Amino acid sequence: MEPFAQVPRLGDDRLDDDHDEIRSLAQGLRSASASNRLAAFDALHAQVLAHFAMEDALMAPHDFSSKECHVDEHAAVRQSFEEVRVAVEAGRGDIASRFANHFLSWLPDHADALDRQLAKLLFYRKTGGAAVMLHRSLP
Ligand SMILES: [Fe+2]
Ligand SMILES: [Fe+2]
Repeated sequence: MEPFAQVPRLGDDRLDDDHDEIRSLAQGLRSASASNRLAAFDALHAQVLAHFAMEDALMAPHDFSSKECHVDEHAAVRQSFEEVRVAVEAGRGDIASRFANHFLSWLPDHADALDRQLAKLLFYRKTGGAAVMLHRSLP
């Protein structure tokens, strides 16, 4: 059985497609052989950096309650990648697979809690708050 929860769909292809890709790269790191481990780590690392940069840029123009927490969490995970890379480069396969496991547990929670707030904000920006306007127009 699949030991890790699926990443929840958020209804924004930019986020959902990246999450699929990142999840599959983390699965790849988990199962990588010793000779492929560093390349698998670097592929995941690069995709995560690009994804966080995209989300941070989407958040930048807006002010909303979970923004700071979200940006901070990305920064903490970036820092973990930097630290773990040193160990992976030194041949620590145990650390690489533990990190992949932690990452695969973390990703669905992060998406559900923080990325979901971002997806909602982007949706309401795109629709101009249509749902709210409709509600307000009711007698
Ligand atoms: Fe995020
Ligand atoms: Fe995300």
